[in-house]
Amino acid sequence: MYPPLVYLNGAFLPPEQAQISVFDRGFVFADGVYEVIPAYGGRPFRLPQHLARLDNSLAGIRLTNPLTARDWQTVFTRLVEAGSGGDVQGRTSAASAGRAGAADQSVYLQVTRGPAERDHAFPKHITPTVFAYSQALKYPEPAQLAAGVAAITVPDIRWQRCDIKAIALLPNVLMRQQATEQGAAEAILLRDGLMTEGSASNIFLVLKGVLVTPPKGPYILPGVTRDLALELARTHGLACEERAVTESELRSAEELILSSSTKELLPITRLDGKPVGSGKPGQLHARLHALYQDYIRDFRAGKVE
Ligand code: PDD
Repeated sequence: MYPPLVYLNGAFLPPEQAQISVFDRGFVFADGVYEVIPAYGGRPFRLPQHLARLDNSLAGIRLTNPLTARDWQTVFTRLVEAGSGGDVQGRTSAASAGRAGAADQSVYLQVTRGPAERDHAFPKHITPTVFAYSQALKYPEPAQLAAGVAAITVPDIRWQRCDIKAIALLPNVLMRQQATEQGAAEAILLRDGLMTEGSASNIFLVLKGVLVTPPKGPYILPGVTRDLALELARTHGLACEERAVTESELRSAEELILSSSTKELLPITRLDGKPVGSGKPGQLHARLHALYQDYIRDFRAGKVE
């Protein structure tokens, strides 16, 4: 179902009234970047981190951010309110009592270079297209959290700037589809014998009781969830390392955990049809997931940013 309202180039509109040019370079070249930001209790979570990554992505494709941080915040507030039926306050208490409230949303934003006559090089006078909407956050099923999910490994067929959150997602789409067709929730990507990340997530391993995830660099997206998970692990004295992970380490991991803004922290309990560790979600996932949920609870209560 489409959201009741979208933001397009300065206007808030019902989706059926929002129109962009067929010559938009986002449509023609996938010349643009995006963000996905969860909102809990009506407030975007880790907003400064998402906006900082947006700035990096825009710098990566040589576009200036068309909106200020304050403008983005205003846009998101309005969209989240619309997406949650305008009942942000009421749902906040519902959400903190149980799990999801309607005010738990995921905000999508996209900036493209804008419409212009087709030419690969940047056109001179062009106005970026700015699009955003918010929809209910789809949490992982409780059964997925309880039993874990399956993943497959695939060669990482993407480009060399995976740190840019580009809208050009065809490799990710194809790799995820391959996973789906094999009954798996995620594809874990291998490049030159090393694990990079998931098709739409970062990946953590547990090796000899230590939480390990690849370092930031051009071959992975610097995940906001990844960073918070590492921050929480370090604050609470869980051993963790950011270092290269080989394919054989991936296959011998005691636990595998995927992280993303919409999936939060999800255990992977089968890899290429074989059990990961005991084949059940592990202790480190349980600990990290609990720390993450505590942090979200504190965020809802306004105790942390
Ligand atoms: N994807 N790596 C890739 C390739 C991703 O697409 C994502 C998120 C992540 C995790 O980043 P974060 O923790 O900041 O969400 C890592 C979003 C959710 C998406 O495309 O829908």
